[in-house]
Amino acid sequence: MKVLVLCSGGDAPGMNRVVYSLSKYLKLDYARAGYKGLVEGDIFPLDLKAVKESKDEAGAVIYSSRYPKFKEEKYFKKGLKNALNYDYVIVIGGNGSQRGAKELAEAGANMLFIPGSIDNDVINSSYSLGFQSAVDQCVYTIQNCMPSINAFCYTCFFEVMGRDSGRIAEETYKNANADVLVAKMEDFKVNTIAKKVKENVNNGKGTCIVLKEKMRDRTYFVEALEERVEKGTVKYQVVGRTQRGGKPAKMDLLMADKFASAAAKEIKLGHKNKSILVDEKMNIKICDLL
Ligand code: F6P
Repeated sequence: MKVLVLCSGGDAPGMNRVVYSLSKYLKLDYARAGYKGLVEGDIFPLDLKAVKESKDEAGAVIYSSRYPKFKEEKYFKKGLKNALNYDYVIVIGGNGSQRGAKELAEAGANMLFIPGSIDNDVINSSYSLGFQSAVDQCVYTIQNCMPSINAFCYTCFFEVMGRDSGRIAEETYKNANADVLVAKMEDFKVNTIAKKVKENVNNGKGTCIVLKEKMRDRTYFVEALEERVEKGTVKYQVVGRTQRGGKPAKMDLLMADKFASAAAKEIKLGHKNKSILVDEKMNIKICDLL
């Protein structure tokens, strides 16, 4: 049985653990840096020592990449040719990577997909690997900044990742007990937020606002709020790459083991072109690759 694994898109804490767990069930080759490696033929046997050493770490020991060229026929065909050398190709990535896997499946390759993206935006899955780790890092940052923000009764925007998905922002808001959630532009009701800020100041407290990235420039939010509250009291903190590079949460390591065991089972059963997804109760569900 020839099985190839690759990580695609933004790396997510837990990706390494899936690769390690898979290697306990299957003899694997890997494509270095995702679809790019698949296209360029950067394909090697897994280095079991490196994989074992990285099993509790973030990052992607087999490397990852965003590879928009894969949409172009010329590159796709090269990737397909290499994928067809394998009985199975396992793709670990987000929704864009899932699309790539589906297209390869439609073209005749035998694909399995495992959700790995901090954004938790994989269609039809309640969870994707790395989400909890990212949220934990956001909460940690907030908890470590707020004592200082409170000391001056300041207000702080905490910018979290997620691209088009507000899931990290929403979960961080809940877990950090923040005052305001701005997961989409409509949430930025500046008068209501200013009222909350003033109320907190009167109670001798600072204000914590969780803000999803990539909506408007930071100065837009800070200046809009500072028009309604005391100048110089609004701060902006980007949580940043700790969301992807921080230690994987226990939950992600556990989910990684579950994804790997389910994928190995699908292979043993000879099932083709499946996504290993998660239902609302956090159980693994197997679906056709959509
Ligand atoms: O998709 C994962 C993610 O971390 C997004 O939340 C974020 O917008 C993006 O990747 C950042 O991409 P890059 O790694 O290219 O900076």
